Amino acid sequence: MNLKSLKLKFKEVFGKQAERIFFAPGRINLIGEHTDYNGGHVFPLAITFGTYALAAKREDDQLRFYSVNFAEKGIIESSLQALHYKEEDSWTNYPKGMTKLMIEAGYPISKGYDILFYGNIPNGAGLSSSASIELATGVMLEGLFNLSIDRVEMVKIGQKVENNYIGVNSGIMDQFAIGMGKEGAAIWLNCETLEYQYAPIELPDASIVIMNTNKRRELASSKYNERRSECEEAVKRLQKQIHVTSLGELTVEQFDQHRPAIGDAVLEKRARHAVYENARTIEALNKLKEGNLEAVGRLMNESHRSLERDYEVTGKELDTLVQTAWEQPGVIGARMTGAGFGGCAIAIVKNENIDSFIQEVGKRYKEECGIEAAFYMANIGGGARELTEEETV
Ligand code: GLA
Repeated sequence: MNLKSLKLKFKEVFGKQAERIFFAPGRINLIGEHTDYNGGHVFPLAITFGTYALAAKREDDQLRFYSVNFAEKGIIESSLQALHYKEEDSWTNYPKGMTKLMIEAGYPISKGYDILFYGNIPNGAGLSSSASIELATGVMLEGLFNLSIDRVEMVKIGQKVENNYIGVNSGIMDQFAIGMGKEGAAIWLNCETLEYQYAPIELPDASIVIMNTNKRRELASSKYNERRSECEEAVKRLQKQIHVTSLGELTVEQFDQHRPAIGDAVLEKRARHAVYENARTIEALNKLKEGNLEAVGRLMNESHRSLERDYEVTGKELDTLVQTAWEQPGVIGARMTGAGFGGCAIAIVKNENIDSFIQEVGKRYKEECGIEAAFYMANIGGGARELTEEETV
């Protein structure tokens, strides 16, 4: 849907004009998976797919939500006095949570609003559609109520919504990538200190292809929380030997020296992934700066193997997509991206090979998994923002 039809839709749904238009992207992660909550590094980027939010302020304290993606649910109403989590409020819990936590953080939001959302990120694909809604709401509140909010603060509030309001124990990567994204660059972020730098992604004759397993991410959040506690337990056991507060503090050498202290094969594998993946993410930045894309690709491949064997978050569908991708001509690197357990993988592919790549990987995936995969080209876009006049015509 283009913006013109979204504006018309707003008028049709709410009986008035939308005042302002906001956008928040989705994200993919180049490398650094399951490292954010372990105090390590991540290397995500914002994509040009995302969530559009058209909004108008109200004179009362009512909130009216409508999503083009969930049109069958119609308008869902709430008010500034009733911002608690309610199961039956479905997707509107994200904007409600964001509004509630921004008010609690002291931002003066004293009037209601009407808001229409439209997202072109495939739902449940692990491209962070929920963090995208959170940040779209954040920039909408900032714009509509004329607030001045430090962007990293907004990112942290988004994560808090996910952790404390929705109840998903995720790290900061998704909200950070979406809030801080920059066109043409990936963000190399230290999740412990929140220091970050932008790394331009120049792929003169290659592109990033997103491969969607189209598999429902079953048990994703319970398995996710399980991995988190396994890593916490590994840290506790390591503390008997070495002063450490998170796995991200350890070099590969330190870990190899002290890992017998963990004393459990499964916990050791989980911790090994977190430590080695962090080291790979640090190396990936250096290789990228040297312009050594081949080396970045190899690190991505190793990352996938580690997520498959040590962290065990891939599954047949992601493994089939990635392994088939590795066999194709012109592939520089491929790995799953995001939490895993279904969702999406990415591959860096030479432009001249993309058509045959998509055809062959799609065919083999269908044969082996019985599901149709989807492929999208990832363009690196900017972070959450209000759209300018030019962008909205
Ligand atoms: C999800 C979480 C992130 C991160 C990734 C795995 O996307 O929301 O915080 O932990 O999984 O890297």
